Amino acid sequence: MTTVNRRWLLARRPEGMPDAGCFSLDTASVPAPGPGQILVKARFLSVDPYMRGRMSRTAGYAAGTGIGEVMRGGGVGEVVASNHPEWKPGDTAESMAFGWQEFSVLTPGHPGPDAVNRIDPALAPIESALSWLGMPGLTAYFGLLDVGRPRPGDTVVVSAASGAVGQLVGQIAKLCGCRAVAIAGSDQKLDWCRALGFDAGVNHRTATDLRAAVKDACPDGVDIFFDNTSGPIHDAVMKRLSIGARVIICGRIALAATHEAPEVGERHLGRLISTRASVTGFLVYDWWHRRGEALQRLAAWHKAGHIKYREDVLDGIERMPEAFLRLLTGDNFGKQLVRLG
Ligand SMILES: NC(=O)c1ccc[n+]([C@@H]2O[C@H](COP(=O)([O-])OP(=O)(O)OC[C@H]3O[C@@H](n4cnc5c(N)ncnc54)[C@H](OP(=O)(O)O)[C@@H]3O)[C@@H](O)[C@H]2O)c1
Repeated sequence: MTTVNRRWLLARRPEGMPDAGCFSLDTASVPAPGPGQILVKARFLSVDPYMRGRMSRTAGYAAGTGIGEVMRGGGVGEVVASNHPEWKPGDTAESMAFGWQEFSVLTPGHPGPDAVNRIDPALAPIESALSWLGMPGLTAYFGLLDVGRPRPGDTVVVSAASGAVGQLVGQIAKLCGCRAVAIAGSDQKLDWCRALGFDAGVNHRTATDLRAAVKDACPDGVDIFFDNTSGPIHDAVMKRLSIGARVIICGRIALAATHEAPEVGERHLGRLISTRASVTGFLVYDWWHRRGEALQRLAAWHKAGHIKYREDVLDGIERMPEAFLRLLTGDNFGKQLVRLG
């Protein structure tokens, strides 16, 4: 067996879009497994959009890679040495902790995403453990079913629809009786999506008017938006949301070049991923039938001195525009009213 381990290190952090100069190929000795560890020769390494975040100096939902460190990443491969009682050479192991390298020392029993999973090569080609039977598959499955809560007849729009996650989202949506709409970057990709069962597609790179194209593809609106990209696609689909729609902010690959940009606007979508926060639309009129109950409680609280309130009153109908503009400049202090007569 070779004694050399080739591995890719993070050479420098990207300014904007990463380029080849961000990485350097390094050779090191094949590492030796310690007690309870295994040495695995990678057969497949996964390449995933999240790696862009790990190259950044700003931490996302996981720690970043240091300069000179091996790039993080998942893989699947063959155990070539073992100091662990439950693993033997020849076993197949999958883990998110491989890194971009030929040989990895892994620690079975490690909890969480860096866990080492035993793969049965008889079940499916081993590389499936990095795709539909692995992290992307789980992303599609839980993202759509648990967060999206699909119902038969729903229109489900998927961005990066032909990708690792997207293609599964569309197919699971079809299994749930939904109408699946693909957004992808080439006609070839869209043909593939249609072959998978997607009902309609939008090519976001050639559409002259993305919003109009999404509208055409979703005449009844969008009930579930599984957003893998953010960016202009996000904006176009958000315009078509139906009442009670569910939006899954899964990824922001369209922002890869602006990862280090200040946290304004769309950058907050990243915060939703790292905090798993939910954003739900609200309209008070949906609660109008319970108006009486609420007013009674408010009045009681006020009477008991539990709530205070401030109003800002201008006099004369001629001051209506002024009153309105005060709202926009922040000159009002309290509920802006105009007193007449
Ligand atoms: N939240 C989670 O737990 C989680 C887990 C896994 C993945 N993800 C996210 O899910 C998304 C998809 O990941 P994946 O592994 O399935 O990757 P993928 O879709 O297989 O590959 C990325 C695709 O993104 C599209 N893309 C790239 N730049 C774009 C741009 N500027 N505008 C629009 N689309 C662009 C491209 O497809 P087109 O040619 O069709 O544009 C590209 O093929 C990523 O954002 C990833 O970060 C999130």
